[in-house]
Amino acid sequence: TSTGDGKGPLRIVITGAAGQIAYSLLYQICSGDVFGQEQDLIVNLLDITPMLGVLQGVVMEIEDCSLPLVKGVFPTDSVEVAFKDIDVALFVGAMPRKEGMERKDLLSANVKIFKPQGQALEKFAKKTCKILVVGNPANTNCFILAQNAPSIPRENFTCLTRLDHNRAIGQIASRLKISPKSVKNVIIWGNHSSTQFPDARSATVNVNGKETPAYDALKDDNWLKNDFVSIVQKRGAAVIAARKLSSAMSAAKAICDHMRDWWFGTKDHEFTSMGLISDGSYGIEKGLVYSYPVQIKDGKISIVQDLKIDDWSRDLMDKTQKELIEEKNDALKATSTE
Ligand code: NAD
Ligand code: LMR
Repeated sequence: TSTGDGKGPLRIVITGAAGQIAYSLLYQICSGDVFGQEQDLIVNLLDITPMLGVLQGVVMEIEDCSLPLVKGVFPTDSVEVAFKDIDVALFVGAMPRKEGMERKDLLSANVKIFKPQGQALEKFAKKTCKILVVGNPANTNCFILAQNAPSIPRENFTCLTRLDHNRAIGQIASRLKISPKSVKNVIIWGNHSSTQFPDARSATVNVNGKETPAYDALKDDNWLKNDFVSIVQKRGAAVIAARKLSSAMSAAKAICDHMRDWWFGTKDHEFTSMGLISDGSYGIEKGLVYSYPVQIKDGKISIVQDLKIDDWSRDLMDKTQKELIEEKNDALKATSTE
């Protein structure tokens, strides 16, 4: 069942709505692919003033798709208009990185977007609003957003690591020449950055109808501990090097997967990865936005507990935590003078 209250249209805001991810995302959302075929939608499109013309074109295209669930589309450059009474907020608007940059190189420019948007969220959004931050550096932007919207429950803040999660599944599936549907329970720990820890130790694969640990099926611990980890860590950079633009189609698909699972829940015995405000689980600093394995039921996200952590994993989990603490301190400095 959906977690929508069934009381009329769901109000969604997409920031960065004139950008390339939004262009791949909007049809999937507006066609009912995320919140279900029974859920009417009102879509607010926020971008900066110079993009209002482009946004008009996006509005025309949504209209031209003639989608029955869409009850209104409102392009705006005002956070007050965009965030008023919203149920779902997808924070995509931010500068993307270029070739040769790390995502944290965007920090000083992008975290400054998230302080005023957090303040606007606090003032205008519903307190039940579900929030997903995509703009990079996603974890730290989410941290700044949450700091500036203290009356919204902490569990409503998430950041996107589903793209990394899907990349990890894709790598294992193609290595074993099986469908991605047959790969379950990979984990992305930590930061959506090149320090993230893509972990296949709990992953299983279904080969010829038999559920097998990925480590047993692959029979190649060396690949799982080295190439697999670094391919997933560096995949965003590889896409930028090839496309000269950052990922958009796969990012939009991951946003849809993240929100659909939040809305409708994960399957029994299956988990996914989401960046969450840490409650201290697995010894991670409370309050950091850290990606964990999660299960979702009735709209409630729970961190999968009691997974075995060996020394190799602990080291990788701590390394990505360390980077997040540094990013947090830099972000607090960058936003303290605003
Ligand atoms: P893009 O440049 O095509 O679009 C970004 C849009 O945001 C632009 O239209 C821009 O005008 C708008 N924008 C900038 N400042 C804004 C503000 N203050 N308020 C509202 N809108 C604003 O970029 P894109 O390719 O769509 O990527 C968007 C962000 O998502 C980037 O930061 C990118 O690095 C990030 N990203 C994250 C993931 C992830 O997995 N977490 C994946 C892909 C991309
Ligand atoms: C990605 O993972 O593709 C995005 O975060 C874009 C980037 O900068 O890598």
